[in-house]
Amino acid sequence: FPVAPPKGPMLGKHVIVTSGPTHEPIDPVRYIANRSSGAQGAAIAAALRDLGAKVSFVTGPASVPAPEGVDVIAVETARQMRDAVEAALPADAAVMAAAVADWRVTNSAERKMKKDGSGRPPALEMAENPDILAWISGLDWQRPKLVVGFAAETHDVIDHATAKRARKGCDWIVANDVSPATGIMGGTENAVTLIRADGAREWPRMGKDQVARRLAQDIAEALA
Ligand code: CTP
Ligand code: CA
Repeated sequence: FPVAPPKGPMLGKHVIVTSGPTHEPIDPVRYIANRSSGAQGAAIAAALRDLGAKVSFVTGPASVPAPEGVDVIAVETARQMRDAVEAALPADAAVMAAAVADWRVTNSAERKMKKDGSGRPPALEMAENPDILAWISGLDWQRPKLVVGFAAETHDVIDHATAKRARKGCDWIVANDVSPATGIMGGTENAVTLIRADGAREWPRMGKDQVARRLAQDIAEALA
């Protein structure tokens, strides 16, 4: 089949997109994870691809397939994700849609943990994972021109997301309300507010693919 020549406003631009949950091992058969499906990140990667961008798609173990036509880098843990993002630099933009596990288990076991008969569960020791969004936002000459983060919140969404944008040093934050009542987590729709330096703009509730196309369009304009 003839392949349509790539074209679009993002032609020649490279974007790194992180997506999905990360898995943090406890032992060879158990891990700590979260409810991210990776659907929003996959939709963003596909939308950027459709605008002509070269996309490095760094994904944790997601429950939706990676889009075609992007460079897929599959990882498991937060630290692997950070290393993969670093290896994919330089980039014109970075969109951190992954639900990175905040903590990893530092006393994870090489062999399956067994009940010892005492009735006492094992004590997991944890350490904070590297913050990939804050790290990339703070890069010097390698910093992508546009860094976009997400803020999944269950309450005081705009306040928390605005503070998060300042704390992490990214350009935009896509804030979304993931309180269970919204059904966002694992669903096909998203309700987002885009927070930029000049304020917060609430988008109507729409499909995750529509959110992705609108965000990709805004990114293309910002890089133009
Ligand atoms: N993020 C990241 N690396 C981490 C944690 C988060 O890159 N270790 C990114 C996410 O991909 C997202 C943004 O930071 O784009 C915000 O994630 P979120 O979990 O909402 O923020 P946290 O700083 O982890 O704060 P919280 O305590 O609310 O979870
Ligand atoms: Ca977090």
